[in-house]
Amino acid sequence: MTITELETPALLADQSIMEENAAVMKSITAGSRMRLFPHYKSHKCPMIAKKQMELGAGGITCAKLGEADDLVREGIPTVVIANQVVQSEKLPLLASLARRAHLTVCADDEENILALERAMAEGGGVLHVLVEYEVGMRRCGAESFEEVLRLAQLIGAQPHLSFHGIQAYAGQLSHEENGETRRREVLRIETEAARLKGYLEERGVLVPNVCGGSTGYAAEKPEDTVYTQLQAGSYLFMDSSYQRLNLPFRQALYVLTSVVSVKPDRVVVDCGVKTLTMDQHAPYFPAFPEAELSFSEEHTTIFTENSDLLPGDMLLCVPGHCCTTVNTFDRIHVIRGEDVLHVWPITSRGKAQ
Ligand SMILES: Cc1ncc(COP(=O)(O)O)c(C=O)c1O
Repeated sequence: MTITELETPALLADQSIMEENAAVMKSITAGSRMRLFPHYKSHKCPMIAKKQMELGAGGITCAKLGEADDLVREGIPTVVIANQVVQSEKLPLLASLARRAHLTVCADDEENILALERAMAEGGGVLHVLVEYEVGMRRCGAESFEEVLRLAQLIGAQPHLSFHGIQAYAGQLSHEENGETRRREVLRIETEAARLKGYLEERGVLVPNVCGGSTGYAAEKPEDTVYTQLQAGSYLFMDSSYQRLNLPFRQALYVLTSVVSVKPDRVVVDCGVKTLTMDQHAPYFPAFPEAELSFSEEHTTIFTENSDLLPGDMLLCVPGHCCTTVNTFDRIHVIRGEDVLHVWPITSRGKAQ
């Protein structure tokens, strides 16, 4: 099958460019103590997760219990939920996954840690727990070294929990366009994470892992980084948001669209904000890179004069944010040139719980 036979909008990923991006990421982690734990949120596709494991990933990072459920069911042996799982209704499933895989979760709250222990005690098995430390994103995370120590000791005292280390993700730096600021802040956070590790270890708490990192600043990590797990996701696909940073990764992901209407001043294609998400940056059409766009639910209007396009012609679109765009599709078409090599289900799309 070729892409011209696909019903649109369709999600395409270029196999050779994904392989290239994976090789670049491998060269970034080579020689450092960081091991790639790629983030599943970017593709939500078990087939891609399995390929990443074959290429040497230490495990797969995800954000949601539903994603972890899919990963364990697909046989991924090591899964990190880089997030808190708090709702009591969710804990039996968490405990069941922890019995079937090496499962890690984040925590920043004493009551939550005690609830995790109770859930694990009922089911047996061990759950690995990272204490999340807040490094400037103002999302989750303990806010002082003392608080991290208290939580780590509490985890260590539970028979069914194992202290796995620190989660310190600096999401505020991922899309920082100023390279100098990005480098400076990465080093500041490195120093702080190393100080925190030292503080805990001087007090008898061994810190086996420091986890975090993204596509946007993976290449800025120093060779002697204290981080052991790199959780980058978008590097595989890229998007218009990350393209602004001149990173060493190339665009692999596209939405294939069809022209549905042509007017003297504009061309309209068959997908809008229900397909092309807008949360980080606007998408663009490489055939009209500078054109003004306007979006509605199921249409995008490209303002361009006297186009020779006709209804039914196809146009490629570069998504604004790969992770949220993937989440709107049921399947991904892996291509080489015009040929469709594989059609893989995006099993975990919509798994928000
Ligand atoms: C916990 C965590 N780690 C890593 C990432 C980085 O992902 P990416 O490389 O796609 O920017 C994110 C992004 O949201 C995240 O929430």
